[in-house]
Amino acid sequence: MKFILHSTALLTAAFLIFLSYASAQQSSFRSAFIINYIGNNFVQQVELVKKNKDILPEEIKSLMADAIAPDKTYEQKMYFLNLANAMASMHKYWNNDDKPLTEIETILRIEVQKEKERAAELEKWKKYEKFIGNIVMKEHRMQMEAAGLNPVVFPHWLHRIWFQCKVCHQDIFIMKKGGNDISQAHLSEGKQCAVCHNGKLAFGADEMCEKCHNAGRPGIESLYDMTKIDHKKIKDIAEHLGAEWNHENLPKGKAPIDRFGYINWLELKAKNVFKPINSLNKDFKDEVRDNKILFESASPMVNNVLFDHKIHSTWIQCSTCHPSIFADKLGENRMKMTDMAAGKYCGHCHGKVSFTFADCLRCHNIPKGEIVKDALIHKVKP
Ligand code: HEC
Ligand code: HEC
Ligand code: HEC
Ligand code: HEC
Ligand code: HEC
Ligand code: HEC
Repeated sequence: MKFILHSTALLTAAFLIFLSYASAQQSSFRSAFIINYIGNNFVQQVELVKKNKDILPEEIKSLMADAIAPDKTYEQKMYFLNLANAMASMHKYWNNDDKPLTEIETILRIEVQKEKERAAELEKWKKYEKFIGNIVMKEHRMQMEAAGLNPVVFPHWLHRIWFQCKVCHQDIFIMKKGGNDISQAHLSEGKQCAVCHNGKLAFGADEMCEKCHNAGRPGIESLYDMTKIDHKKIKDIAEHLGAEWNHENLPKGKAPIDRFGYINWLELKAKNVFKPINSLNKDFKDEVRDNKILFESASPMVNNVLFDHKIHSTWIQCSTCHPSIFADKLGENRMKMTDMAAGKYCGHCHGKVSFTFADCLRCHNIPKGEIVKDALIHKVKP
């Protein structure tokens, strides 16, 4: 196995890692060795190594110890092992001892294998997130593994049947994947998922661990395959919560899925299939803004966009959108599709939890020149 840095990109990466890991404890020999290594100063390197022949085995050991320390990323491990490898090759040459080199190769093989398994694991959970709105939660992967538990597949869409977005956002969770530091300690204080998963509103967070730590478990197909859902169960839960699930109104008994595989919630609503609750608190005062805003696009290539404030504010709290996603002033937000694709403006939800950008005409739905009665006009400045 040869691990020799050759391309400029790799060299730059190595140099950056060197800068960030050049610690106070690092021996002056190691620092000098790294500088020569990165700079391809072969002559100086040979002199350095010859002069320090006796300390090489210790230096190699300390690099290996740094490489296998548990807090290191794969890139950092490879950086230390590459250096150790270079030193060990020289050690073999000058001191005629190949033991360190063999040791490093063993460690390298193990680390490469571990990385392969890690990548395969990432791939393994992807299928759950293909169903738009599902989130695989594995921020605390190590702790879960230690407890013998799999990651959590959070079925966003299933919860949407019973709850408006505003029930959870922003009072319980901010709208950002991985942004809430969800942990079992918080759950046992009755926070986060356990606001509902308390054994009364929904199964408790201190029981049936596998019901949430469900990734890869048998029987969870119904969390990402609409044809396998248990309508009777969803209906019973809806009744218990004061929501509605009238699957008898489903067109042809099936949930409407758009051509991108996404549930058409507005059609479900129009057919009175579901009615989510808007708060867990009976005294809740709902706030809805009943108007429409027409974005008159400056681009000659696309239709105008009609934004329905009422639909959006029925689902979503004002404070989720204003002021962090949009300034609440007509004509103030300068939106570009590239920003949206990066998760800004409409892209905060569309493409992640709501229908995707591939569905251009669902937003660009008003031909140029067509007048929409009572709509506020946002004239896009070129
Ligand atoms: C039952 C609670 C609940 C409901 C209801 C809910 N969400 Fe979420 N939402 C969550 C949780 C939990 C997360 C993930 C937070 C984390 O990973 O820390 C999340 C994350 C998100 C994200 C971030 C996704 C990403 O990839 O960064 C968006 C956007 C979002 N929700 C939008 C919505 C919208 C829109 C609705 C209503 C249509 C909604 N949510 C309804 C609990 C909920
Ligand atoms: C606003 C209330 C609420 C919040 C917050 C909430 N849930 Fe739920 N969840 C429910 C209800 C109600 C059910 C259905 C009742 C039941 O199965 O006991 C449910 C069902 C589920 C199911 C389906 C179990 C199955 O196999 O049928 C999973 C998985 C789940 N929740 C995970 C989570 C996770 C993870 C979180 C936190 C990230 C969370 N929930 C936050 C109310 C909530
Ligand atoms: C209602 C859903 C739910 C149930 C039930 C649940 N968990 Fe969790 N648990 C979560 C979520 C969500 C996370 C955060 C996942 C992540 O790291 O992103 C989590 C994280 C964890 C973690 C890692 C973070 C930490 O706190 O150290 C451990 C360990 C854990 N759970 C243990 C358990 C055990 C044990 C049970 C059963 C007694 C259980 N969980 C039941 C939702 C649940
Ligand atoms: C979730 C709603 C939404 C979807 C889906 C959407 N757009 Fe847009 N788009 C907007 C909004 C809002 C604007 C800003 C107003 C304007 O300039 O027209 C915009 C602006 C544009 C612009 C002009 C500004 C710029 O970024 O160059 C173009 C071109 C455009 N969209 C093309 C598309 C195409 C092509 C698709 C499908 C692949 C698409 N859009 C899907 C909401 C959407
Ligand atoms: C899904 C996100 C979203 C939600 C939720 C939302 N808004 Fe807006 N709001 C917008 C967008 C987009 C605009 C247009 C801004 C522009 O023209 O640049 C806007 C514009 C406005 C404006 C100026 C135009 C007008 O309608 O007079 C006000 C005021 C406003 N919002 C208040 C509210 C209030 C109050 C709520 C809650 C009841 C709310 N918004 C909920 C996205 C949202
Ligand atoms: C905070 C989340 C969020 C943001 C931000 C958001 N949307 Fe939506 N949007 C939703 C949800 C939820 C629905 C309901 C349908 C669904 O689930 O996809 C929806 C539905 C729609 C619809 C179909 C309803 C209709 O009016 O016919 C359009 C069009 C739309 N959004 C356009 C936009 C545009 C344009 C923007 C940006 C100016 C935007 N949305 C920003 C969450 C969001």
